[in-house]
Amino acid sequence: ELQQLEAAFDQKIVNDQKIEPKDWMPEKYRQTHIRQISQHAHSEVVGMLPEGNWITRAPSLRRKVALLAKVQDEAGHGLYLYSACETLGISRDELYDQLHSGEAKYSSIFNYPTVTWADMGAIGWLVDGAAIINQVALTNTSYGPYARAMVRICKEESFHQRQGFEIMMTLAEGTPEQKAMAQDALNRWWWPSLMMFGPTDAESVHTAQSMKWKLKRKTNDELRQQFIDQTVPQAHLIGLTIPDPDLKWNEAKGGYDFGPINWDEFWQVVKGYGPCNKSRMDARKGAWDEGKWVRDAAVAYAEKQEANLEM
Ligand code: 3HC
Repeated sequence: ELQQLEAAFDQKIVNDQKIEPKDWMPEKYRQTHIRQISQHAHSEVVGMLPEGNWITRAPSLRRKVALLAKVQDEAGHGLYLYSACETLGISRDELYDQLHSGEAKYSSIFNYPTVTWADMGAIGWLVDGAAIINQVALTNTSYGPYARAMVRICKEESFHQRQGFEIMMTLAEGTPEQKAMAQDALNRWWWPSLMMFGPTDAESVHTAQSMKWKLKRKTNDELRQQFIDQTVPQAHLIGLTIPDPDLKWNEAKGGYDFGPINWDEFWQVVKGYGPCNKSRMDARKGAWDEGKWVRDAAVAYAEKQEANLEM
């Protein structure tokens, strides 16, 4: 019986058929998806904090409106992904507990500070640019609810990336001080953006199995390379310099060779010792505690509605 179920599941994966919530799936497949989708959702929610810092400081109403819309989108992406995760049999409260207890991870990139307005440009351009490359690949992931969530999310990410690049272009074409601000932001966000794609394939504990399950359709290194090859020309277009002296076009490979990534920094940040890990978690837990009355009121209202319906 179990063998038949496993064989049927494996055949669906081979046939590029989507696995749906009610389908039988190996327990490890379920757990891996709960891990990855929940961490993806946590990343969206924590990712609102670095940008939220600049909504009240945006240099114009137009920039403020675009940033506000982007941060709101991230909240929606988080809720979308939490909903996809719940289809795997875990509750929203358990997911929040895992984030607040430090048990669950979120993307390393959101543990860096946003110290100038140019950081809003660098985040939209580089962080959302990297996220799009990762997420476009995930639109073909084998788990149905995750793949479908990615289609909607990718559409909104394109706007995020474009508004970020426009900020960088405006600064790069502005006064020398503005161009220096854009270059400074690129210098600080380039390497952490490369780290977003995860460890090298040789170091990645999950990639091989995730590729077999067609959870991942491209490996960490393949996506990282795609991001570099796409982004370097964009920097050159606006006269900014990529902070990597080893960056060099490799005709034979049809892509850029690049310098060594500081994996010690990466693991320090993942383990919780990055510049902003503590403040991000304090902000999240603070919001959770302060928001309790809103959750209680919503539940009370829903119960009252239900009682009225039954009368
Ligand atoms: N930050 C934090 N932890 C990371 C990480 C990162 N950038 N990259 C890898 N890790 C963790 C993994 O979670 C795993 O730890 P775990 O077993 O405790 O979960 C460990 O490092 C080993 O890494 P692997 O590469 O073997 O792990 P994965 O197969 O999970 O690959 C991943 C990592 C590529 C990030 C994959 O999980 C993934 O594609 N996730 C979905 C996309 C995502 O989460 N993106 C985050 C950014 S979302 C965003 O930017 C929103 C945008 O709107 C701004």
